Amino acid sequence: MTQDNSSTGNEHVTLVDHATGNSYDLPVIGGTMGPKVIDVRKLYGQTGYFTYDPGYTSTGSCDSAITFIDGDKGVLLHRGYSIEELAENSDFLEVAYLLLHGDLPNKADKEKFNTTITYHTMVHEQMMNFFRGFRRDAHPMAIMVGVVGALSAFYHDSTDINDPHQRMVASHRLIAKMPTLAAMAYKYSVGQPFVYPQNKLSYAENFLHMTFSVPAEDYQISPAVARAMDRIFILHADHEQNASTSTVRIAGSSGANPFACIAAGISSLWGPAHGGANEAVLNMLNQIGDKKNIPEFIARAKDKNDPFRLMGFGHRVYKNFDPRAGVLKKSCHEVLAELGVDDPLLELAMELEQIALQDDYFVERKLFPNVDFYSGIILKAIGFPTSMFTVLFALARTVGWVAQWNEMITDPNQKIGRPRQLYKGETPRSFMSVNER
Ligand code: CMC
Repeated sequence: MTQDNSSTGNEHVTLVDHATGNSYDLPVIGGTMGPKVIDVRKLYGQTGYFTYDPGYTSTGSCDSAITFIDGDKGVLLHRGYSIEELAENSDFLEVAYLLLHGDLPNKADKEKFNTTITYHTMVHEQMMNFFRGFRRDAHPMAIMVGVVGALSAFYHDSTDINDPHQRMVASHRLIAKMPTLAAMAYKYSVGQPFVYPQNKLSYAENFLHMTFSVPAEDYQISPAVARAMDRIFILHADHEQNASTSTVRIAGSSGANPFACIAAGISSLWGPAHGGANEAVLNMLNQIGDKKNIPEFIARAKDKNDPFRLMGFGHRVYKNFDPRAGVLKKSCHEVLAELGVDDPLLELAMELEQIALQDDYFVERKLFPNVDFYSGIILKAIGFPTSMFTVLFALARTVGWVAQWNEMITDPNQKIGRPRQLYKGETPRSFMSVNER
């Protein structure tokens, strides 16, 4: 079968099946930006063929108006606004409003949204007992998968996905309670008492307060640290149809409740190829240990017989510098200077970056530092243990997940997600009793 693109101008492509001599016109659809797509929805019905695309490298799974990425140019836009501009001028809750509602809020809307989120920051007191069922050495991501899924057992009045009001209440609850749950996961692991939210604080300040304050003494929140935290949240808020977002959409496509869907997203995010990479970067830098060992690790990353990869490098979509990494690199230096932290790991990271960026292997494959390369160093400087890094990613990405989930539910083209396969197993055979096998 060959594909004739010559007719793209009149908005279709023609597929020619050389086996049968049949040809089929497939519609081409364009969005507001980015590559056009070939509409293959009727392909199987018309031709008897499925498409084959493991990892969905060439497949658009939905319409979306939330986030746009141009991976070749290193561009990331939320609702049309560049990530650099948002990170510089906005705050996380404003970006959350933007992702959820499509436009930046005016002053009154912003105040109302902040109040609404603040109103939902506490979690049901019974959840304390739920937490206490976990081992103290549980990974906080394991706790998050459990407690976020369990929200559906506590908030029955916001699980009807067909009610727009309940959908919005669930979205607000998720955005508001994630910092509380994340801080509780941390407190539980270090054996300190849970700290209740304080609604006079900003979103990032409140999270820092719940994470680092103890009842025995006053806790001063550094404005520089709060700003850096908020910026990290903005940079992780959404990223189009990545693995965890697609997981949320697939889970939600069956009609599952929003808390269960977000728990599914957290599970997907946990892996080291996705959100778990920030933790893996720090582990890798510690493993490298010294600048003199960098060449050995670069060689291992290039060796196809060695599973080691340079964590924090490479991206499915960006074949240029990840714009989020650019912002974080700058922020990293600022935060470390502000906190007076002199971290040899930052120096090691910069040296590693330089060497990799000049190495043919990485240049040819367009492997640049991604968002996770620098976030770990900032989070370490703020005082988070590495096991919390992916939790912070999940906290911020919850905004993107709920925005994408809401968009999916209201999409008239939405169907249950159900990919097909290329079957390579046994052909039909007869059952033999156990004595004959
Ligand atoms: N170190 C060494 N080689 C690499 C790396 C790396 N980090 N990333 C990709 N490659 C090589 C890969 O071996 C392949 O080489 P070849 O063509 O010779 O077989 C080529 O580059 C293309 O890689 P791929 O695996 O086909 O690319 P992908 O789009 O499937 O994977 C990725 C993208 C992010 C999973 C991968 O680059 C990776 O594993 N990076 C390290 C983990 C990481 O930092 N993940 C965070 C991603 S950004 C945040 C997020 O999405 O959560």
